[in-house]
Amino acid sequence: MTAPIPISLHVNGERVDALVPPRLNLADFLREHLHLTGTHVGCEHGVCGACTVRVNDEIVRSCLMLAVQTQGASVQTIEGLSDSGEITDLQESFRGRNALQCGYCTPGMLMAAQDLLRRLPAPSREEIREHLSGNYCRCTGYHAIIDAVEATADARRGSAR
Ligand code: FES
Ligand code: FES
Repeated sequence: MTAPIPISLHVNGERVDALVPPRLNLADFLREHLHLTGTHVGCEHGVCGACTVRVNDEIVRSCLMLAVQTQGASVQTIEGLSDSGEITDLQESFRGRNALQCGYCTPGMLMAAQDLLRRLPAPSREEIREHLSGNYCRCTGYHAIIDAVEATADARRGSAR
């Protein structure tokens, strides 16, 4: 048995202090220790993107990161982005365009889409497709997702004018 390790970090703006097993991954830490179950776990080996979260402003696959690696970090999950209103328009666009069905991929899709829109306010459909290519959806066929992201980008640019 390896002794638990103390970590301190911020999650969705709140300070968290915890004792974690050294091999606990970030996805399980968020879901099981902090009960932030919006972060989903699909493949558990970095392929599907369902577990995408933000760490220090970069999106990462939380199934591939250890909880202990977030010592001192700022982590944002889908709950944080949703509660802050940062992605309300994107969520509405997903809903309005049927860009989700079972919803399993949706938190990771939204995290990845918002990451793109922050970096590239006017992405082409190809750029959207490319940026989301690491997020798998088994339901929608992707077109509706691309439509929703493109519509959000257009609307944000319109309201920024
Ligand atoms: S669960 Fe992390 S990439 Fe699939
Ligand atoms: S909506 Fe079901 S996996 Fe994407």
